[in-house]
Amino acid sequence: MSQGLVIMSYIVASILFILSLSGLSNQETARKGNYYGMVGMLIAILATVMSDAVTSYTILIFALLIGGSIGVRAALKVEMTQMPELVALMHSLVGLAAVLVGYANFIDESSAFTGIEKTIHELEIYIGILIGAITFSGSIIAFGKLCGKISGKPMLLPGRHLLNLILLLIAVWLGDQFLIEAETGGGVWPLILMTVIALAFGVHMVMAIGGADMPVVVSMLNSYSGWAAAATGFMLSNDLLIVTGALVGSSGAILSYIMCRAMNRHFLSVIAGGFGSSGGGSAEVEGEVQAIDVEETVQLLHDARNIMIIPGYGMAVAQAQHTVHEISKFLVGQHKTVRFGIHPVAGRMPGHMNVLLAEAKVPYDIVFEMDEINEDFPDVDITIVIGANDIVNPSALEDPNSPIAGMPVLECWKGGSTIVLKRSMASGYAGVGNPLFVHDNTRMLFGDANDSLQSVLKRLQG
Ligand code: TAP
Repeated sequence: MSQGLVIMSYIVASILFILSLSGLSNQETARKGNYYGMVGMLIAILATVMSDAVTSYTILIFALLIGGSIGVRAALKVEMTQMPELVALMHSLVGLAAVLVGYANFIDESSAFTGIEKTIHELEIYIGILIGAITFSGSIIAFGKLCGKISGKPMLLPGRHLLNLILLLIAVWLGDQFLIEAETGGGVWPLILMTVIALAFGVHMVMAIGGADMPVVVSMLNSYSGWAAAATGFMLSNDLLIVTGALVGSSGAILSYIMCRAMNRHFLSVIAGGFGSSGGGSAEVEGEVQAIDVEETVQLLHDARNIMIIPGYGMAVAQAQHTVHEISKFLVGQHKTVRFGIHPVAGRMPGHMNVLLAEAKVPYDIVFEMDEINEDFPDVDITIVIGANDIVNPSALEDPNSPIAGMPVLECWKGGSTIVLKRSMASGYAGVGNPLFVHDNTRMLFGDANDSLQSVLKRLQG
């Protein structure tokens, strides 16, 4: 394929990626956004494979087959609830690719750069490996934390801010050494030392971030993986990789900012770590738990006019979205007002609940963001909380020592009755007790959310 055609294809792919991002920003257009992304990626891969830069098709086809089959297998096998872990693992691969491409570029003797161009290329290699190594090790730790293999509690080393600063200063000094030594054909040791430091920094950074702040880490690593890809693009002089990396990097950064705002956190404080660890730890909840059965739940629903449904991670685990939709359809048919209230960090990934509700075909016009409906709870007769915990925890607002203090939550206790569907009194992701469960107007419907909702639906219809 001629170079002109390759560049043309790259421009078309870039436009499709931009259309994809804008499509994904809205539920109605999200499906279209995904198609744009898929077509863009197909064009990008075909143009790259058919470009003159490819010298060996055997290795390439082999790599495509291995990567493709791992991707297909993962997509078929991974449960929706494991998606955040998969995404974290994918980010780590982008980081690893940036490190490997960086080293390959460094040892490539065919490089024709001289003078200032050579220095710029070496700087690209250094920065690419730095960001790539941080992304790689940070994402592996995030993966471990998300799937519960590593404790969600923040690991706080004494003097951790000073330690981070020292690591940063050493990395800058090593960069200087690398550029000086690379002039005379050296530079291996500063590069290797920096890689080790960057790997350690990535581990330390994510280990220090606690429980409920993980959403910010996930989106931040998403952003880092974009910058790592952009750095790889600079090293390989590949414009498409630079554009795509910058798109992922900047959208990830914007998402991190939105997440921080939603959780009332300062971005830099989250990155510096230590949130989710403050003061008195998990507040023990004192009070009497009032259980409710399916029959009473159905009676309350019959009596109510204004109903709010709050889905959380447990709805994803129980795969209860289809049953919830059936119940909401039935209640709407009974001329009741039914709305869904979505917390920005409900579940384990951005937009987790929206994706599940869209999959179950819940109409968009009854799904509301937290800010749109949080004032309305005094008018709500009954709130059904499905497998949610941290996002409806009043201690976020009432207990300054709570690890989730300051995080806005759905204030369902201000309404009539609240029925919480969960299997036990276990805490949520942040590991803190929830006073909502012993509130005067809260009833607990214990059991798997889907089983309970199936019984409720059967009784409602029967
Ligand atoms: P959580 O606070 O994690 O609570 C989920 C609850 O669901 C648990 O208490 C659990 O209680 C219940 N549950 C689990 N399986 C169930 C089942 N089969 N049936 C019924 N209930 C079930 O969830 P949330 O309220 O959605 O809050 C999200 C949390 O995750 C926040 O702390 C957030 O910061 C964090 N987080 C979010 C993200 C993103 S981007 N959204 C990423 C990482 C972390 P039982 O075990 O008693 O059933």
